[in-house]
Amino acid sequence: MSPYSLTRTLPVDATDAALRADVLGGLTRHPKTLPPKWFYDARGSELFEEITRLPEYYPTRAEREILQTRAEEIAAASGARTVIELGSGSSEKTRHLLEVLPGLHAYVPVDVSESALTGAAKSLLAEHPGLAVHALIADFTAGLVLPETPGPRLVVFLGGTIGNLLPEERATFLRSVRAMLSPGDALLLGTDLVKEEETLVAAYDDAAGVTAAFNKNVLSVVNRELGADFPLDGFDHRAVWNPEQRWIEMRLRARRALSVKIRELDLVVPFEAGEELRTEVSAKFRQEDVREELAAAGMRLAQWWTDSAGRFALSLATVV
Ligand code: SAH
Ligand code: AVI
Repeated sequence: MSPYSLTRTLPVDATDAALRADVLGGLTRHPKTLPPKWFYDARGSELFEEITRLPEYYPTRAEREILQTRAEEIAAASGARTVIELGSGSSEKTRHLLEVLPGLHAYVPVDVSESALTGAAKSLLAEHPGLAVHALIADFTAGLVLPETPGPRLVVFLGGTIGNLLPEERATFLRSVRAMLSPGDALLLGTDLVKEEETLVAAYDDAAGVTAAFNKNVLSVVNRELGADFPLDGFDHRAVWNPEQRWIEMRLRARRALSVKIRELDLVVPFEAGEELRTEVSAKFRQEDVREELAAAGMRLAQWWTDSAGRFALSLATVV
């Protein structure tokens, strides 16, 4: 078998249909919303990597610290022969784990961003010549079809990306992860933790404006893919902590009243001055939240590790 394959499990036109449905549904409701998965074209993936290096954006550094410290423990507990990583991006932190799994046979990175997958695969294959890498361009919320690879499986979902799903989406998603697992398999889940508002808002509204550019990138994606005419300078980036929901909301606020034409949808979308479009939620968790949500999906929180400053957690969950 070739050590590398790249499979698009969604046809290109299905991606297109999903974008159309999300833009039509999200921009004709009140308040207006767009799902965060559309941030990640090649430019959005690059901007995300830039975010991970910002002084204010602590989650990547905190999660890397846990992975570096706990990789051997995670490897021993899982004994995985296949690692499936959802929303793998650059796979940069995952390397710490792949390096210490002695029986590892296959790595299956899953992402909507083709550029992130090919970039990651190139360096992984150079570092692990014997490893079979089956990259999947796929939506992890939409019925994954996984390759036949040997167990035990470790499903890895890092970065706190689970927080970008709404609570009902999270529950459905966790049940679908549970369905991927057999007895002896495990889930390694990264979650950002509830903390003081100032730290959270700074992480999502950095001084250099990289997160603002990332946020506005979704407008560039809709302009390019659906022939829309969003003026990027017509919107301001906002990051707001919602203490009831315990999530950061990223929003784009219209600087003035304006109308956006979306040619491919034959749609005109009016914005009032000051109207806000929600582009992302990033939920923050407590240990009991993670335990309960895993249990509701048929999984048990077996291990919980945090970084030394207690900002971020990695959970190892097994099937009940
Ligand atoms: N896991 C990496 C990247 C996090 S960024 C890290 O911890 O640094 C979130 C990643 O998830 C991006 O690469 C994005 O393209 C991907 N992603 C977002 N929504 C997705 C979805 N619905 N299906 C598959 N991939 C998705
Ligand atoms: C990918 N995800 C976990 C990031 C987060 O922190 O919610 C995306 C992000 N949005 C703004 N900055 C980073």
